Amino acid sequence: MVKLTSQTLREMKRRGEKIAALTAYDFVTAQLEDAAGVPLILVGDSLGMVVLGYENTRSVTMEEMLHHTRAVARAKPQAMVIGDMPCLSYETSEQAVTNAQRFMEAGADGVKLEGGKAVLAQVRAIVGVGIPVLGHIGLLPQSATSYKLQGRSEAAAAALVRDARLLEDAGAFGVVLECVVASVAREVSQSISIPTIGIGSGADCDGQILVSNDMLGLFTGVTPKHARRYANLVEIMRTAFTAYKRDVETKSFPASRGSY
Ligand code: KIV
Repeated sequence: MVKLTSQTLREMKRRGEKIAALTAYDFVTAQLEDAAGVPLILVGDSLGMVVLGYENTRSVTMEEMLHHTRAVARAKPQAMVIGDMPCLSYETSEQAVTNAQRFMEAGADGVKLEGGKAVLAQVRAIVGVGIPVLGHIGLLPQSATSYKLQGRSEAAAAALVRDARLLEDAGAFGVVLECVVASVAREVSQSISIPTIGIGSGADCDGQILVSNDMLGLFTGVTPKHARRYANLVEIMRTAFTAYKRDVETKSFPASRGSY
């Protein structure tokens, strides 16, 4: 098995091959995504909302992120595993490096952090100690006060292009573009040589990422419009739980065949 690296992803962009990334928070999901050939697995801080039941991603702690990163890393995926640095874990360059190293010790192959110009020193410092960094611009859930489309004005679009270039110069190997106007995401993607990974940012990004629970229909809250649903696991689980309860209550489970 040849481990995929940031270089692999850059080459995919150069060859015009789209990158299909997904989030994972546990061992089995990571195994299955890897078996499907997904090249980039993000242990996203979306963990807080889709697994841990928080209202937003801001409550997620380093300890929680490391716990789930370890679970994903135990699957030993060929895919690159990126640990998402949670809110307040990269306030200074020193703190950013310390926490990025903890993600690497937990088995990640790199880290992601939110922000453009404001986090360049942190990106440089992490890259400086040899840890691959994935940038994240556009909608930034850790600091956003409302969820709206990014890059609508000329100035906002120009700031996104500038931030993407600055992240590339600082050594980031790729940039997530979240909820960016599609034409602006295209311009950003054409302005840099590292891959852009879009979420709600149109078809012209170099890759796409979805929160696995959203695409699997494994989330009881509101799922965003951009998340195409490939399965309805909530329905499958509801049916299974109801059938099991009925079988126990009617004594059809366990059957004598299933008893020792
Ligand atoms: O936390 C997460 O899952 C993310 C993706 C939406 C990119 O940051």
